Amino acid sequence: MEDIKLSIESSLNFVSKETIAAYEAAVKKGLTALENGTGAGNDFLGWLHLPSSVTADFIADIQKTADDLRANCEVVVVAGIGGSYLGAKAVIDALGNSFAWLQSPKPVIVFAGNNIGEDYLAELSEYLKDKKFGIINISKSGTTTETALAFRLLKTQLENQMGKAEAKKRIVAVTDKAKGALRTLATQEGYKTYVIPDNVGGRFSVLTPVGLLPIAVAGLDIKQLIAGAVRMEQVCGINTPFAKNPAAIYAATRNALYRSGKKIEILANFQPKLHYFAEWWKQLYGESEGKDNKGIFNAAVDFTTDLHSMGQWIQEGERSIFETVVSIEKPNKKLEVPFDNDNLDGLNFLAGKRVDFVNKMAELGTMLAHVDGGVPNMKVSVPELNAYYIGQLIYFFEIACGISGYLLEVNPFNQPGVEAYKKNMFALLNKPGYEEASKAIQARLK
Ligand code: PA5
Repeated sequence: MEDIKLSIESSLNFVSKETIAAYEAAVKKGLTALENGTGAGNDFLGWLHLPSSVTADFIADIQKTADDLRANCEVVVVAGIGGSYLGAKAVIDALGNSFAWLQSPKPVIVFAGNNIGEDYLAELSEYLKDKKFGIINISKSGTTTETALAFRLLKTQLENQMGKAEAKKRIVAVTDKAKGALRTLATQEGYKTYVIPDNVGGRFSVLTPVGLLPIAVAGLDIKQLIAGAVRMEQVCGINTPFAKNPAAIYAATRNALYRSGKKIEILANFQPKLHYFAEWWKQLYGESEGKDNKGIFNAAVDFTTDLHSMGQWIQEGERSIFETVVSIEKPNKKLEVPFDNDNLDGLNFLAGKRVDFVNKMAELGTMLAHVDGGVPNMKVSVPELNAYYIGQLIYFFEIACGISGYLLEVNPFNQPGVEAYKKNMFALLNKPGYEEASKAIQARLK
């Protein structure tokens, strides 16, 4: 079976082969630090050999819980934010039917706890009225405001609709093994729970129950997802020579581009199903590298849609960007352009051609135009959009992120900056324990 492939040829007019090759020693050092747990953030390396440590019993247990929810719920609400939802959303969108939510599959999966929009939550509550629904509540810390708030609303509604005893059977908590409000609540209420390992940070947690449970509830193949990740664990590991290790080359190339002044990386796709995959990627790299006043800014575009909005900027705006395209080689479905006798739209030159052929020519044309416009391009080719290759992509980007963070000399596994807004929000909300901060912020706002 083929693997995903990285191609950097269209970046080599911007950074030379020699410049990239010069990263070999630093990449090796980074990979060794990951492997031996000697680098910054080494208490958060549980993701590194996670795929190969997943057991059949573990998968069977997740699958059983997922099957129960599938059998008993019309809707399953997945509550979580950041790393506690983006991986599941990315995989479910990438592999599910684009119109699943209109086709009322059993169950419909919706997400909550990733915003504080009153309209969103009120409309969700209206939607769930009279529906048999379940909740997967995901929070590693167990104290995240957005998720806790949504869960309080959802739990209350579920208990009102079904009674407390029945509600309990439809709630699963995914959280820390011992700490946090969600663990306490789950123990008290007797919810089914899954543990997020201590040594796996939120943005690296998609292959733990955080991602696997919702993905299995969506009816997708978690075994294949893990199998793909296991394959990349081998391909991108420390024993693979630099030139043959796609994660090493990706990490080296993006760092070389960054040092040459390309401060923004745009992840582009030509498949709308990958929109949330890019959101997951944005968090992975943004939260891992954006610190100590350093780091590539991560942006994402859905092409060809965004060529009609951001295309102008990408082609002719400030030359501080490079582009990484996730390209799906073969679509899962087949659709040909029909012939039309009148040909008023002038499209008969495409009659009989696959829609994907048109898309591929758009992809190639875009890449050539962007390179001509001064935008270095890398391409990650994915043979097909299925669970196995999404598993490969996930692990490829994870390990490349670890290597890349070490090349940048930051701790890729912490996120101290995300506390700043929380402190202000809690002070403004007069949360107990924030009295001093509250006084200070009120004085500042006078
Ligand atoms: O990557 C991270 O650590 C964050 O995005 C967290 O996943 C996010 O803040 C949610 O945290 P928690 O799972 O503790 O609710």
